[in-house]
Amino acid sequence: MNKLIIPLVVCIACAIIVSITAVTVRPDQNLNIANEKKVKILAAAGIQTDRVDEEFSKIKTLFVDFKTNKLVTIDPAYDHIKAASNPELSTLIPKGEDIAVLKRRENIGTLYVWVDEKNSIEKLVLPIRGYGLWGTLYGYLSLDADLNTVRGIEYYDHKETPGLGGEVDNPNWKSDWYGKRVYNDNGSVALYVTKGVSSTEYEIDGLSGATLTTNGVSNMIKYWLGENGYGPIIKNLNKEIEKI
Ligand SMILES: Cc1cc2nc3c(=O)[nH]c(=O)nc-3n(C[C@H](O)[C@H](O)[C@H](O)COP(=O)(O)O)c2cc1C
Repeated sequence: MNKLIIPLVVCIACAIIVSITAVTVRPDQNLNIANEKKVKILAAAGIQTDRVDEEFSKIKTLFVDFKTNKLVTIDPAYDHIKAASNPELSTLIPKGEDIAVLKRRENIGTLYVWVDEKNSIEKLVLPIRGYGLWGTLYGYLSLDADLNTVRGIEYYDHKETPGLGGEVDNPNWKSDWYGKRVYNDNGSVALYVTKGVSSTEYEIDGLSGATLTTNGVSNMIKYWLGENGYGPIIKNLNKEIEKI
């Protein structure tokens, strides 16, 4: 019995130390996660900087009610990812519409907008997410002032395999997005990731050996830029922004 007491005490002491350490570093971890998201939002819009907070303060964070497709004013600390898993703040997506495999969509979406002194939009960043092969990819897509031409894409979290689906982080692949267009002349989402090399303004180079990830990327673009996502507010954003 005595032989067990010392290991037991050591175990309990270690557990206490690990728990205290985990609790103590959590605020810093949360700050780092928040900072990383800001870095990715800026990067999607083509801004690389060490002065993250200063650059971020130039952005207007707007919120859209997906039911009315109008801008709404809510607590700026609102987190659409947390909302998406809260049944009171989100809506089940009907199976036939759930092309990005999200299960639920938050009722209020977030948009990051740069405006000039006349309140005209200079560029926009939208959160996107959707299932790849191993899990959900979380990221941002940025559009130019015409709200159609892509400026960039950045993922801040995914579980895809390095060298295969993980190539979504490859700067060469990301650079292929610049200047591509989301909507065709009919206003439908036409942008997608092709197999092989892109040859039109609506195509992005495929990732070799990673068709499932690339299909996931295409599907999340189609969902979030489409009618059930940010599509309607994008078409009205210039008018809606005048009202705020
Ligand atoms: C260990 C392992 C990891 C893989 N990781 C990915 C991945 O991250 N994304 C992906 O689309 N396919 C991945 N694949 C390949 C898929 O299973 C599938 O073969 C591939 O997506 C088909 O794409 P292809 O038609 O371009 O070859 C992985 C396969 C293995 C064996």
